[in-house]
Amino acid sequence: MPEVTIADFARSFAASEGEFSYECLQAIGNSDFSYRKLDQKQRDDVILCVLKKISSDTQVIGAEERTSVWEQGWAENLSAFNAQDHNLEALIPKFIRENQPIRYDGDYIMPSNPRFEFDYMTVFRLWLFQKYFAGFSSIYEFGCGSGLNLVLLASLFPEKNLYGLDFVQPPVDLINTIGKTHNWRMTGFRFDMINPDYNFNLAARSAVFTFGALEQLASKTESFIQYLLHQKPGICIHVEPTVELYDENSLFDYLAIQFHRKRGYTERLLPRIQQLEIEGKAKIIGVKRLNFGSLFLEGYTYIIWQPV
Ligand SMILES: C[S@@+](CC[C@H](N)C(=O)[O-])C[C@H]1O[C@@H](n2cnc3c(N)ncnc32)[C@H](O)[C@@H]1O
Repeated sequence: MPEVTIADFARSFAASEGEFSYECLQAIGNSDFSYRKLDQKQRDDVILCVLKKISSDTQVIGAEERTSVWEQGWAENLSAFNAQDHNLEALIPKFIRENQPIRYDGDYIMPSNPRFEFDYMTVFRLWLFQKYFAGFSSIYEFGCGSGLNLVLLASLFPEKNLYGLDFVQPPVDLINTIGKTHNWRMTGFRFDMINPDYNFNLAARSAVFTFGALEQLASKTESFIQYLLHQKPGICIHVEPTVELYDENSLFDYLAIQFHRKRGYTERLLPRIQQLEIEGKAKIIGVKRLNFGSLFLEGYTYIIWQPV
């Protein structure tokens, strides 16, 4: 059975194998990254399922009702976290699906491990956070949800100040509760990226990131980019589905483009930052599509830049 090797992870992240830390190598070694390739009939069935989803899906990203969907979803995670004696497992969002085919290396595959997507994403986050955040004293996640990324950061960097921001209240309460119950330097704040509060100032030597959060703004990212240009954090990392990096002449990619556009996930973030670089207002440090994602799209392209 094929499996994702250390060399494959390095290729996916545009990293060198030597960059993988002990924690990263342990996360690779402790999980099952084997998978099955699909035969023609199985692949046809997956494509049919994706096409049916594209035509039947009614979710509209950024629609008014989405605010209460997020509020309720995170409130459920908060109750579960309190009910389960502050067990960090209760923070895993319900939108990470298990036991389904996923996108990997240019095709659909069937993982052996039901938590393959989550475990792959954990290897990725460990590499990303250790490589880019080590030199900063404060880290801000905008659109932090249940705080899963901040928990991983706290386990790596307990000495750093971690801030979780979200436009609904339950994530703020969750972050503050996690901080208190696990004795981490973690604080939650309410913040709407579409209407940024310029009174919320970032500390010196700070890093900013979003993880599947700008995607939710339905392309209304300009106000937040302007806020970042004004605040000038030392580094900005966005891990977001990036429709511009698919190849519309490939069936496999075309399906992801169609799903992305049907829902109305954010577009034009990468072209906008590239434009800012041309204008001398931003410096791009790295961009990489991981060639990995869930069944319908690839949500883990990273864009790393600095306001100049
Ligand atoms: C897909 S979730 C990702 C959560 C978290 N980053 C993670 O990786 O688990 C998207 C998050 O963006 C938040 N969000 C949506 N619109 C927002 C806005 N205008 N301002 C700030 N956060 C927003 C949602 O409440 C939700 O927590």
